[in-house]
Amino acid sequence: MLLKIDNVTKRFGGLAAVSEVSFELEEGIILGLIGPNGAGKSTLFGCINGTLPLTEGTVTFDGKVISGNKSFQNAKLGIARSYQIVQPFGNMTALQNAMVGAFCKTNNYKEAEQIALRSLETVKLIKKKDVVAKHLNLGERKKLEIAKALSTQPKLLLLDEVMAGLNTTEVLEMVGIIKSLNTSGITIIIIEHIMEAIMNISDRIIVLSFGKKIAEGSPEEISKDPHVIEAYFGVEEVEEHA
Ligand SMILES: Nc1ncnc2c1ncn2[C@@H]1O[C@H](COP(=O)(O)OP(=O)(O)OP(=O)(O)O)[C@@H](O)[C@H]1O
Ligand SMILES: [Mg+2]
Repeated sequence: MLLKIDNVTKRFGGLAAVSEVSFELEEGIILGLIGPNGAGKSTLFGCINGTLPLTEGTVTFDGKVISGNKSFQNAKLGIARSYQIVQPFGNMTALQNAMVGAFCKTNNYKEAEQIALRSLETVKLIKKKDVVAKHLNLGERKKLEIAKALSTQPKLLLLDEVMAGLNTTEVLEMVGIIKSLNTSGITIIIIEHIMEAIMNISDRIIVLSFGKKIAEGSPEEISKDPHVIEAYFGVEEVEEHA
């Protein structure tokens, strides 16, 4: 098992943003993480990669307990994350941005450059390698966000809404990119609101609502689950659908 989340809770003051969540992730799969706004999805990513200290529970990665680690330590172990709000270094080129991640595993400039070029190639941003990040459009910035994460050479990649705001063609391209990352051996957890994309891309889906895991299963099982329909549409809809 690559990742084990055991009874993880994250409170912000009185609010349990993530509440007693447990699941296991086997190597090589794409896990979809869905749920209404404020359900705790991004917070759970923070609990996994170490940007947020847990209130309770344990995260085990590759056989080691990593809860308590800082995010840079987890990056070295092989966990990378892209952020919902893209955060490029605006005055640096796409290549320089992608190189930042590479320095997580190497101190050699040339080597970092080679890793970064491969990342930009993978996310289909190589033609823009010399463009300053602030001049990239949203779709390109989303790709750059993935390239930055990819340059750390992760085993586990956490993707937070990398398709939000993209047009239909860009979404299709992004689905292809994510599938190719997975085929190359990277295990992925992906948060996404675009249902068609998440249903198409995920081997398994977990649904959060008000911080709690309310369902886990195949895309087909999830799309029929009454608790999931209730979380998204409210009780009346469930009765109508029942
Ligand atoms: N740093 C923080 N301090 C206080 N409350 C927070 C913090 N981060 C998140 N929250 C709260 O925790 C809850 C879960 O937020 P989170 O961002 O994890 O949701 P989400 O499922 O990613 O939502 P969305 O789909 O809108 O991105 C929300 O009520 C949010 O306001
Ligand atoms: Mg979020």
